[in-house]
Formats: sequence, structure tokens, C-alpha cells
Amino acid sequence: MKPGGRERLDELLGGRPELAAIAEDAFRSVESCSDKNEIDRTRVRLLGKKGVVSSVFKGMADLPPEEKPAVGEIGNLLRALLEERLDEKSVLLDAAEVEERLRRGAVDVTLPGRKGPTGHHHLLSRVTADVVSVFVGLGYRVVEGPEVELDYYNFEALNTPAYHPARSLNDTLYVYRQDPERDNRDDVLLRTHTSPVQVRVMESEKPPLYVVSPGRTYRRDEMDATHSAMFSQVEGFAVDRGITMAHLKGTLAVLARRLFGADRKVRFRPHFFPFTEPSAEMDVSCFRCDAAGCGLCKGSGWLEILGCGMIDPNVFEHVGYDPEEFSGFAFGMGIERIAMMKYGIEDLRVFFENDMRFLAQF
Ligand code: DAH
Repeated sequence: MKPGGRERLDELLGGRPELAAIAEDAFRSVESCSDKNEIDRTRVRLLGKKGVVSSVFKGMADLPPEEKPAVGEIGNLLRALLEERLDEKSVLLDAAEVEERLRRGAVDVTLPGRKGPTGHHHLLSRVTADVVSVFVGLGYRVVEGPEVELDYYNFEALNTPAYHPARSLNDTLYVYRQDPERDNRDDVLLRTHTSPVQVRVMESEKPPLYVVSPGRTYRRDEMDATHSAMFSQVEGFAVDRGITMAHLKGTLAVLARRLFGADRKVRFRPHFFPFTEPSAEMDVSCFRCDAAGCGLCKGSGWLEILGCGMIDPNVFEHVGYDPEEFSGFAFGMGIERIAMMKYGIEDLRVFFENDMRFLAQF
């Protein structure tokens, strides 16, 4: 509304008491509105087609011509001023309603917010990260490989012959198998270990290589306290000039002490893996009983934690490395097993059941 609108209206209504009464009445009814519904009804009653303002215009028909312009102006001013006042009143009522609700305590914006429960990493992710970070600290790089893998990377290039039991339908989950009677490098399977990442990295890069590779692995196992068809491993390997078994031992002893305590001793027992020669399993002295013998180490004083060895020259041949020039070591470990030992968990199934009573403890 232009400034002065209200003064002009009052001026025009000066000598016209009948119209002045109608206007006064109209403004009063806007002021007396006490909620939004009343505003809506009043708006119709004042400004609608059959409303008060319309009747002012209609009344002009019976007026002498010299009166018409002034009464027309009164009608226009009245409509604009009432509209403006209705809008203002509506905003005021909104604010009043919020204030009233606050007063009644429905919303207290001064209260501190309610905090939702905070999540955290799954224990298996934590242990994986603990292992990986030991190696990252030693200068290793993290590389991940596919969980759906080719027979070639999972078995063939890892020097795993056709007669090896791991290749049987009873041990491996195949996605696509061409001819079960003969081994086929194009067969597609869920990787049974993280070792195929060794081949993938060596195939596409040249030494020196210092790599760790965490990830999920799959085998055709029934779920029980110590088996699961899906489980987690961390693989690692180093290839360079002049790498010896001494490097392997020193590196893995660092891992054992970081994971299980600075006083831990390690020992290496001869073993067999197709892709390492020689191969070994590494035990760590029992951290629970300090190797005296307890339930955890079953009286032996030692806990088996990983498989390892010097990378077999046959593997190097698959990736085109000269075994006279380069040598390397590799190792692989199961994360569930390490987590179970470290945290005193007796049944592996708790990792996958997602019971908050278990998960929230870590
Ligand atoms: N891939 C083996 C397994 O799943 C573990 C393993 C053993 C990995 C020796 C290695 C290794 O890299 O050198 O049982």
C-alpha cells in the first residue's frame, strides 16, 4: 500500500458517515480474528464477490454522478488496505501459534539434541586394518584383487596342479566351469585365497614389490564354530633382488609382536604350499599363558597364525620374472582366526550374525 493510503481513506470518509461505519466495522473484524480459519472466513466476507467491498461498488449505481469518483476511490482504498491488514494479521497469528506451542512445551528448542547411536568398524575390519597398518608402516602398499577370480590366477599360475584337492568341486565354489574332467584356466570361481593377487600384481609390474592385500575369500565349507564359506585373509609378498628367508622371518616377527605383544617369540615349522618353496607355517608363543601351556594354545605354548614361504620359481615363470635375478617371500593369514585368538572368541559364527550384543563389545 502506498504511504498515506489510510489518511486518504479517512479524508474521503469524513463527510460520509454511512461508509465510514462500514469501513470501521470491516477493520475491526480483521483485528478480532483469533486464528487462521477466521482470517479465511473474514477475507471472503470482506473481499469476496458478495462481500462488503463489492457492496460499496454496487451502491455507486444509485449515486449522483459527482459522488461516484470519490466512492470508487473509497472502494479501491478499502480493498487494498483490508487485504494488506489481513496478510499482516495472518503472519502475526502464525507467530503467536508457534509461541503458544513453545509455551506449552511441545517443542523446546533450547534442549540439547538427542544423539543417535554411533556405529564403529566391525571387529574383522579392525583386525584387518591392524595387520595392514603394520605392513604399511614397513613401506608396503595395499592392493586389492577381485573376489570372483579366474582359475588361472587362483590355481594355475600359483603352481597348483590339477590333482590338488583345493581344485575339486568339493572345496571350491565355481561360478562357471567348462569341463570338470580337465583343468581349465578360463573357469570362473570365488577365490579360495588372496594369493592370486600376487600373480595379478607381478604380471603387471616389475620388482621391487612390497604389497599387502586384504580381502574376502570363499570355500565350500559348512558353517560351524571354526568354518565359514566366506572368510577374510590378508596376503602379503615382497619381491626384490637378494630377498632371503631371513627377510621373511624378520618381517613376520615384527607382525607377531605388533599384534600379540613385544615379548612374543616366533617359530617356523616346515610345511607345504604349491606356490612357495620352501614353505612354512609360523607360530607365535601363546600370549595368554606366555607359552606355559593353556586352553588357548591347547597346552602347546604356541599358536599357529599364518602360512608363508619363498615364492616358487614356477610362479615367477608364469609372470615372466627371471628367478636368477629376483627372489621373494609371501605369506597369508586368516583374519577370523587371528581375531578369535586375540579377543577370546570361541565361535566364528558371531562375526556374521550381527548381534549387537556381540558387535558393541568391540
Ligand atoms: N593361500 C594360503 C591359504 O589360503 C595361505 C598362504 C600360504 C599364502 C603361504 C601365502 C603363502 O602367500 O606363501 O591357505
